[in-house]
Amino acid sequence: FTAVRYPYLKRGNYSFLSDRHLGFFQSILSPHQVLTDEINDLSGYNVDWMHSVRGSSRLVLRPKTTEEVGAILQYCNAQNIAVCPQGGNTGLVGGSVPVFDEVIMSLGLMDAVISVDELSGIAIVQAGCVLEKLETILHLNNLTLPLDLGAKGSCQIGGNVATNAGGIRLLRYGNLHGSVLGLTAVLANGQIMDCLSTNKKDNTGYDLKQLFIGSEGTLGVVTQVALHCPSKPTSVQVGFFGINSFDNVLETLRLSKQNLGEILSSCELIDQSSLECVTSQLKLKSPDLVNHFPFYILLETSGSNADHDAEKLNSLLEMLLKNGTIVDGTIAVDSTQATNLWTLRERIAEALASEGYVYKYDVSVPIRQFYQLVDVMRARLEKLPIRCCGYGHLGDGNLHLNITSQEYSSELLNKIEPFVYDWVSRQRGSVSAEHGLGLKKRDYIEYTKSPTSVHWMRRMKKLFDPNNILNPYKIFPGTLNE
Ligand code: FAD
Ligand code: MLT
Ligand code: ZN
Repeated sequence: FTAVRYPYLKRGNYSFLSDRHLGFFQSILSPHQVLTDEINDLSGYNVDWMHSVRGSSRLVLRPKTTEEVGAILQYCNAQNIAVCPQGGNTGLVGGSVPVFDEVIMSLGLMDAVISVDELSGIAIVQAGCVLEKLETILHLNNLTLPLDLGAKGSCQIGGNVATNAGGIRLLRYGNLHGSVLGLTAVLANGQIMDCLSTNKKDNTGYDLKQLFIGSEGTLGVVTQVALHCPSKPTSVQVGFFGINSFDNVLETLRLSKQNLGEILSSCELIDQSSLECVTSQLKLKSPDLVNHFPFYILLETSGSNADHDAEKLNSLLEMLLKNGTIVDGTIAVDSTQATNLWTLRERIAEALASEGYVYKYDVSVPIRQFYQLVDVMRARLEKLPIRCCGYGHLGDGNLHLNITSQEYSSELLNKIEPFVYDWVSRQRGSVSAEHGLGLKKRDYIEYTKSPTSVHWMRRMKKLFDPNNILNPYKIFPGTLNE
């Protein structure tokens, strides 16, 4: 185990991988489903997207069916082998990679789109299907995804469900607790739990599928998902506004909601520092606005009548300019321009990562306090970091506070944490709005959840996974084996 940032972690009392174990896996899977070459095969699976957490697994298993997942977990549970489920490995909290030598279960070969029904809007998909691939198929059926995020080219629907991913359309379609109609999950003991309902309404007892949404691979491995998908909008428009104060950002949000109503599908904030980072690091062109502004809002509408939607967005722009809420604004004239504007928002994470070490915070805060935390941190950190910036899902009250430095510095970290969590907690916000807790945020769960809630979460974990083989060291502080 090489990640020096977590020296306090102790390996659980799990079995070490033996030739006998390997022999079993090789007997139930084909050779290309069992990867053991540490340098050529395993290195990418052992390190996270941020390159901040590294495990030392010696085995990646790539099941193709729910039954294979069941057989693997049944064996691991009986043999006391720890398992780390992995989707597209785009998670941002160190949840998708092993901490020690957990066996990695990669869902990448389970990528079939099983069925898509335009009339009901229901798609049934294997968990390892990459989000962008699913979107392409849905578009052919006049449907679209209820979620969208910058990682769509690599992340998988199962990983999205396991993290309850939010993203840039949540404002319009809500989160996966609403869009997932059913799922199949394999429990730690190998039992297959079939909750693959396609009913929109089903009040027969507890809604167990909800437990797996956002459980980050700690309660079961999701193998199939039934997703409710909205109709593909035939008219999508994107506006980009330059704004000179945060009060006016809030006013823009209020007026956009009021005037765009049902067609508003995204309202994202980008501050000046984030825009500067994405344009300079990735050599992208800034939008054609008269000036630089402390804040930018990217607005998207999705509807079914281009004339009607354009009229609404244009009159909003006119009104905002006239009453001085925004100083300048542009509306994309075609899909290329729209994509270029979205790129400026969606590639901020990548741009920040290319700048050096990133201290990444993903918080929910009351909307009026949305940007205060960035100002507070800038004043607190002074010249220590390269940059301290804020962007995110304004319409959902979800701020991404990011701080970068040339390399990891414990001095900087100690100035940020736990201060940042304490600040969020005092606003009764959430220390992880959409990325989950994984390994990196697990020690801060109680800044958002009450001790009683955490106690009952631990009891649920014990019930579903008594031997704690599924993604140990994640979500909960300490070890569950203690
Ligand atoms: P992984 O990273 O592989 O895994 C994430 C967690 O889920 C791990 O704990 C893993 O053990 C578990 N897991 C994965 N698959 C399964 C399964 N089938 N069954 C059980 N457990 C499983 N997140 C947002 O919410 N909103 C955003 O806008 C957003 N944008 C992003 C942009 C970029 C550029 C990047 C790199 C990440 C972004 N994320 C965002 C983070 C987000 O969590 C992931 O992109 C995505 O949801 C994870 O999917 P994945 O398939 O990569 O899962
Ligand atoms: C985003 O909204 O861009 C993602 O959640 C990634 C990030 O927080 O940087
Ligand atoms: Zn986000």
